[in-house]
Amino acid sequence: MTIDGKTRVCGLMGDPVEHTLSPIIHNTIAEHMGHNLVYVPFHVKKGQVGDAVKGAYELNVLGMNATVPHKSDVIPFLKEIDPLAENIGAVNTLVRIDGGYKGYNTDMTGLGRAMEKEGVNIAGKDVILLGAGGAARAVAFLMADRKADTIFILNRTYEKAKEVADEVALKTGARIIPMPMSDYEKLPLKKFVCVQSTSVGLHPNDEDVILDDPAFYQQLEVGIDLIYKPAETKFLQLCRKNGANGFNGLKMLLYQGVVAYELWNDVSVGDELCKAVERKLIEAQ
Ligand code: ATR
Repeated sequence: MTIDGKTRVCGLMGDPVEHTLSPIIHNTIAEHMGHNLVYVPFHVKKGQVGDAVKGAYELNVLGMNATVPHKSDVIPFLKEIDPLAENIGAVNTLVRIDGGYKGYNTDMTGLGRAMEKEGVNIAGKDVILLGAGGAARAVAFLMADRKADTIFILNRTYEKAKEVADEVALKTGARIIPMPMSDYEKLPLKKFVCVQSTSVGLHPNDEDVILDDPAFYQQLEVGIDLIYKPAETKFLQLCRKNGANGFNGLKMLLYQGVVAYELWNDVSVGDELCKAVERKLIEAQ
């Protein structure tokens, strides 16, 4: 691309930031859509995100992403915040508005978009979340926002599942049932959408899986693993072996970027371009 006097800048604030795949997403989209925009990584140290946001605004930066360790720390420095991001308490996308930035959580709206694109409609569905850490908690808010019927949160440590269930139920009014992971056989005999939100099975522990009973997987209509390295986790293999569709966290990564790009530029990114970006992400891993 040619950088000239009209080039707009977007970027990612993080520490570390060197391994990010986000420039691939945004620069590929900009190039294909013919936008005069460049996306760059910014190494911003913990505690400095407020200065970075102020500086970005004064430098006329169009949009920013925030990653570790800034996703919660950035919130006090926003002009506005989207309600879903506010409930979750984490922002990964800053959209320039008059006088500052508005914060969104496109990690979650991106996961929602990935589900839609894969034909998964959450409204009225029963959902199982495996895990009760930060990722699972955010997914619980998304599922509540998308009007899931009942959300079952299964976690090795029951107390954490209960804590997340209580918080999300209180803030959203959703019906959420916490359970110890070992009680999975007590789930109602129904078909579920299941999101694997633990770190079990993450490379290099490719052979690990959170549950290995085929009977569990036979109850799934679709299984989503937030892990994308390896691409085909043991969890996803078990889903497929037992008749459930599935996809991995690369689609969430892809669509968190696509949704951010759309918010920054007020455009809609087409399916063919999304597929081209996905191929680039797979190559780059
Ligand atoms: P993140 O922010 O990525 O969600 P986290 O907050 O550390 O990470 O949460 C990790 C999740 O993986 C938790 O649900 C954790 O279960 P516990 O709450 O019982 O610790 C789950 N997890 C990690 N290793 C696990 C293992 N070996 N077996 C079962 N669950 C595991």
